[in-house]
Amino acid sequence: MPRLGVNIDHVATLRQARGGNLPDPVYAAFLAEQAGAQSIVAHLREDRRHIQEQDIKLLRKKISTKLNLEMSVAPEILNIACAIRPDQATLVPERRKELTTEGGLNVAANLKIISGAVKKLKASNIRVSLFIDPDKKQVNAARKTGAEIIEFHTGRYALAKNSREKEKFFNELKRAVDFARTQGITVGAGHGLDYANVRRIAGIKGIEELNIGYSIIAKALYVGLFAAVKEMRELVR
Ligand code: PXP
Repeated sequence: MPRLGVNIDHVATLRQARGGNLPDPVYAAFLAEQAGAQSIVAHLREDRRHIQEQDIKLLRKKISTKLNLEMSVAPEILNIACAIRPDQATLVPERRKELTTEGGLNVAANLKIISGAVKKLKASNIRVSLFIDPDKKQVNAARKTGAEIIEFHTGRYALAKNSREKEKFFNELKRAVDFARTQGITVGAGHGLDYANVRRIAGIKGIEELNIGYSIIAKALYVGLFAAVKEMRELVR
C-alpha cells in the first residue's frame, strides 16, 4: 500500500492572492497529518508564487511526519534546503511561465548539475528524490546521480484524452516502475492524480508513495481539508 504525501502549495496560492496570513499552510499541514497524510510536500519555487521560505522553516518545526521539499537545482534554493534540512528533497524542473510542473527532469541531459545537487543535499543528510518521466533512460540516469528515490510524473496518464491513450500511459508507467524496482530504487509517483484516477495507480506493485496536491485542496473547499485527505487516504489504501 503506498504512503500518501499531501502537497499544500495551493493553500499558499490562496493566501498569496490577498497577501495576508490566511489560509495558513502550516495549519493545513497539521490537519492533513491528522487526517492520515504520511508526509507533507511543499514546493519552494524560485518565483515564490505560493510557498515562502518562512513556510518551510515553520513546517520543519511543526510537522510530525516527513517534510518533502520540492525544489529546483538553483544555487539559492539549494542553500536554503541545506540550511533548513527537510527530511527529503524532490528535485523538479522549473520554468517561469508554467502553471505547474509540466514534465519530469531531464536527468540524462543534465547529469553533472543534478549529481552535484544530489551530493550537496546528501551531505546535509537530506534524502533525495528525482521527479522524472516514466522512461528507462531517465531511471538509469537517476541511478547514476546517487539519488535514492525517484518519483514518476503521472501527468501523461492523468491527462490522457481517451481510454486508448490512458491504457498506453498506464502501461508505460507500470513498465517503468518494474524496471526501477529491478535497479533497487525506491519509487513514488504523482501529478494530476485525483479521486477518480488514483486507485489504479495505487494498485501498481512497487509504488511506495503517492504525492497529491491540487485535487485534494480543491475538494477541501467543499468538504473541508480533513475529510478531503481522509477520503484520498482511503482510496489509496
Ligand atoms: N509531485 C511533484 C514532484 C509535483 O511537482 C507535484 C505538483 O506540485 C505533485 C506531485 C502534485 O501534483 P498535483 O498538484 O497535480 O496533485
